[in-house]
Amino acid sequence: MNSVIQPEFRIVVLASGRGTNLQAIIDASESGRLLGKVVALVSDSPDAVALERARRHGIPQVVVDRKSYASKNEFDLGLLEAVRRLSPDLVVLAGFMRLLGRSFLERFPGKVINIHPSLLPAFKGLQAQKQALDYGVKYAGCTVHFVDEGVDTGPIIGQRVVPVLPDDTEDTLAARILVEEHSLLVECINAVLSGRVRTDGRKVTIDGG
Ligand code: GRF
Repeated sequence: MNSVIQPEFRIVVLASGRGTNLQAIIDASESGRLLGKVVALVSDSPDAVALERARRHGIPQVVVDRKSYASKNEFDLGLLEAVRRLSPDLVVLAGFMRLLGRSFLERFPGKVINIHPSLLPAFKGLQAQKQALDYGVKYAGCTVHFVDEGVDTGPIIGQRVVPVLPDDTEDTLAARILVEEHSLLVECINAVLSGRVRTDGRKVTIDGG
């Protein structure tokens, strides 16, 4: 009998808030749609709803609370140490509200990705959906990208487009984008973990589309 052995890639998710993207990753993993499993959630906030989601699924949680560190530099080192101990194959920022420092990114080259609710390079940073509405764009969307030291500036792995409707509010647009975020993120995680993603400067190619 032939049995296919799936590699057990180790995914560490970093999240600060409600954690619906974390939930999408967990759901994909539990239903066999993910090339790996979430070995831990790391949060910078003890109040993150994401922690409760992880707990419900028996996923270990680590809180690296910014308030417990005297400086940003010490917090960065604490975060690096916490993640390093988990030996991740991939680090996924899913609503993680802090910039990662150079030492962190140098430790995990090509292994840190982020999801952002806009069609980058438009509308970087906070309240991307509001920025899109205020600008009056007709299409919005989301982007998964490799993380560099800038704010939402790393090479783009994948994007999804949604229409902006005439009576959209920030909430209705955010909800439409969020649906796409959840499936795009799972798709991009699988692409990266399967080794199909090649990066040449800013240009990212995914073998097999
Ligand atoms: C998402 O819109 C994500 O794109 C952005 O922060 C939000 C996090 O949402 N980076 P959730 O915590 O995953 O529900």
